[in-house]
Amino acid sequence: MIQMFINLLETIPSLGRHSFQVAFLSAQIAEKMNLDPNVSFLSGLIHDLGLILPYEGKTLLDEIDDTFVIVRDTPGKPLHLHSILGSFITDYVEKLKPISPIVLKHHFPASYLDKTEENLISNIVFISDQVSRYTMINLDVSPRDILIALEDMKSFFFPEVFEACREVLNTEFVQWQLENILAGYDVTDLLDHHVRNCPDCDKKDLIQIGKIVSFIVDTKSEFTTSHTWRVAVFSEKMAEKAGRNSEDLFIAGLYHDIGKISVSYKILEKPAKLSDEEYAIMKKHVYFSYLILLPYKDENWFLPAVRHHERLDGYGYPFRLKGEEMTLEDKIIQVADVFSALLEERPYRPANTVEKALSMVREEVKKKKLSQEAFELLESSLEDFDLSSIEVGREIRKEIRTFVNRVVEKFGDYVL
Ligand SMILES: [Fe+2]
Ligand SMILES: [Fe+2]
Ligand SMILES: [Fe+2]
Repeated sequence: MIQMFINLLETIPSLGRHSFQVAFLSAQIAEKMNLDPNVSFLSGLIHDLGLILPYEGKTLLDEIDDTFVIVRDTPGKPLHLHSILGSFITDYVEKLKPISPIVLKHHFPASYLDKTEENLISNIVFISDQVSRYTMINLDVSPRDILIALEDMKSFFFPEVFEACREVLNTEFVQWQLENILAGYDVTDLLDHHVRNCPDCDKKDLIQIGKIVSFIVDTKSEFTTSHTWRVAVFSEKMAEKAGRNSEDLFIAGLYHDIGKISVSYKILEKPAKLSDEEYAIMKKHVYFSYLILLPYKDENWFLPAVRHHERLDGYGYPFRLKGEEMTLEDKIIQVADVFSALLEERPYRPANTVEKALSMVREEVKKKKLSQEAFELLESSLEDFDLSSIEVGREIRKEIRTFVNRVVEKFGDYVL
């Protein structure tokens, strides 16, 4: 699970480099203070994850670049919207629940906090965050400069956190690691032992994360408000009809477009047909899905998820597989994906009726692009689909709003 987050962050470079720095430094400081380095690592790694979760129809993700991380992510009010949203995500997944309060308070000055282990770690993430920001603004910075800058903010941190950070920053090892991460070196090996010590998730957690992923992907464009969810449910039902593992296809459906998180809104939302260049970027989302999901390459749902744009005639992408090289599971998700897309409105065309969408899929079958067998499964499962269902999106949206309100009630208002 953690490796998947790392891979996702790698496809969003400025957020990724910042998160890796904060994760690494937090673990170092925690170790120095005899606190749990793995919890600190994980908290640092996903402290800003809330930035990718849409709220009230908007998300900050497309605005993220180095300037954003440097300028906007600064202490003012202690509570930031992205801290609340990150706290929501971690609270939603059983295995991540313990770090939810840490993520929530990662911009809280020490004066707001009792000295508990949890609060010490959130303060460690906070100071690491400030160090990372500083290295991103001042590229040739010396640790001395960082410490001088931090001195001005000393009152924001517990004295022991400040002291441990000072000691850690004085080692060449930490200085060079931070430099390396910022320069974009592959961090996989560097962070490996922390990753191995982080809790791994079971299928239940995977589905919970998948629901959030599908919500993020679907909410990225107003034209796809239920696309991912429908693909997951359609594929699940079709697999069930075929006597295949339906849970695996449900998961494949939830995650198949995860790579769209890394594709710009300007392209997803463009109110006209895409140019060739834009279309190429759009197509690349499936490659990003492949990269992000690679830690699950041995799971049965991995291949159908990353093969959803393949076609029987070999003209699909990104692997250009031919029919006989694919399984029925691959073909099921391809049909579910096309059918679901046809039912949705697009910036350049209205939504199709069920009958029209079905006949258009049938045409693709005749052209030997989509599988006849999978199409028959679609037809015979139609009555099991709730075609109006966008319940999950609505449900999650409501849950997020309730969560935000509850936090605001407790801690006061937030800044963006
Ligand atoms: Fe933050
Ligand atoms: Fe941050
Ligand atoms: Fe896709």
